[in-house]
Amino acid sequence: MGSFGPSCSLGRECGSAGLKGPRLWNYGFWVGVLVLVLVCLVGGADSEVGHQRISGSAGDVLEDNPVGRLKVFIYDLPSKYNTDWLKKDPRCLTHMFAVEEYLHDFLVESPVRTLNPEDADWFYAPVYTTCDLTPNGLPLPFKSPRVMRSAISYISSHWPYWNRTEGADHFFVVPHDFAACFHYQEEKAIERGILPLLKRATLVQTFGQNHHVCLKEDSIVIPPYAPPERMQTRLTPPSTPRSIFAYFRGLFYDTGNDPEGGYYARGARAAIWENFKDNPLFDISTNHPGTYYEDMQRAIFCLCPLGWAPWSPRLVEGVIFGCIPVIIADDIVLPFADAIPWEKIGVFVAEKDVPVLDRILSTISPEDVLEKQRLLANPAMKQAMLFPRPAQPGDAFHQILNGLARKLPHDPSIFLKPGQSFLNWTEGPLGDLKPWGKDSL
Ligand SMILES: *[C@@H]1O[C@H](CO)[C@@H](O)[C@H](O)[C@H]1NC(C)=O
Ligand SMILES: *[C@@H]1O[C@H](CO)[C@@H](O)[C@H](O)[C@H]1NC(C)=O
Repeated sequence: MGSFGPSCSLGRECGSAGLKGPRLWNYGFWVGVLVLVLVCLVGGADSEVGHQRISGSAGDVLEDNPVGRLKVFIYDLPSKYNTDWLKKDPRCLTHMFAVEEYLHDFLVESPVRTLNPEDADWFYAPVYTTCDLTPNGLPLPFKSPRVMRSAISYISSHWPYWNRTEGADHFFVVPHDFAACFHYQEEKAIERGILPLLKRATLVQTFGQNHHVCLKEDSIVIPPYAPPERMQTRLTPPSTPRSIFAYFRGLFYDTGNDPEGGYYARGARAAIWENFKDNPLFDISTNHPGTYYEDMQRAIFCLCPLGWAPWSPRLVEGVIFGCIPVIIADDIVLPFADAIPWEKIGVFVAEKDVPVLDRILSTISPEDVLEKQRLLANPAMKQAMLFPRPAQPGDAFHQILNGLARKLPHDPSIFLKPGQSFLNWTEGPLGDLKPWGKDSL
């Protein structure tokens, strides 16, 4: 690790003390040269170079039109499962889980909607579990298993379609930190696992991490909700020089929820702060300035470390603002990963390598940086990260539909034979089996 190791604490001892000794002075000098070179080479990439096509493992599918490729039936649920929450506290329309509500609105108006369930390829039950907020506006997942069970009980007794497949042709939006595991702490989420009744359904979720009990392999991983208008009105000219090397604003420690440290971000954010707080390459702080969006447009790399969950809105912001996302979240599965070649666009740094993050970033060649910026500059790429209202072709709503369409036709084996059953209605923590609200299961 040499002078870049964690014990060096680059910030304090090495960075600002660039004049202390010849070796360290050299380091500071090269940092300066590097930033200058990158700013010159890379600053105006967006405006000067044509757009680069985007292709993922599913091919060049980002601009597919889902209309005509699938039909979705929307269950008409009692309002206590959805809009009553909104009336009680509309703040869930602005938090990063708001896709849950907006996807419902979108589907109601969409030409893929069918009113005839016999025609449907997919069934959708609009349940707003992330709209149950504390007085401070934080979504708490603790009632969600009971709400979901109640909703599934409702659809399985009012229509024949759930029992036909036990949910295998149904999808649910579960955007909580750890999706349908319904807990915001990873250990607890893992202990709970995915709500047993959802085990055959397709889950549309922000949470994505490979080899994790909270991610079913066939889930559709989506970006979190970040307000499109607010970002689009703050765009600066693409020729704005990128004079910040690496940028981050956010928490490094969450002492409220993690007083001993080490759980939050699995220590990765703490390591960023401890190693780079005084490093001149790193513009990092807990203070969210009014110029946050503009700053990202002046940065080459935007750090996207995990927090409580592997993902955060920084990924969306990085793409919109052409700032290369530096993803620090082991095994993360990024949104629409079969349509977007994230490995070509972002930089992936293992959580254990955070102490050498400066070296990793500063040895990426200017050509690679330019290539990543060209991919980020593709309007289809930006469109795929956003949930605009009204919806627009190629936006994240359409990517969700494309993802559902790519799963068709269903394998005939999802339709159960008489007497066949996979789900166990009495499985799961006892507290989750209690009826929810006024209904009795
Ligand atoms: C579906 O199955 C459950 C029990 O497994 C039953 O209570 C319910 O009535 C069935 N629904 C329909 C519509 O037949
Ligand atoms: C369903 O789950 C409960 C609780 O885990 C268990 O006691 C029961 O045996 C299971 N039923 C079946 C049919 O597997």
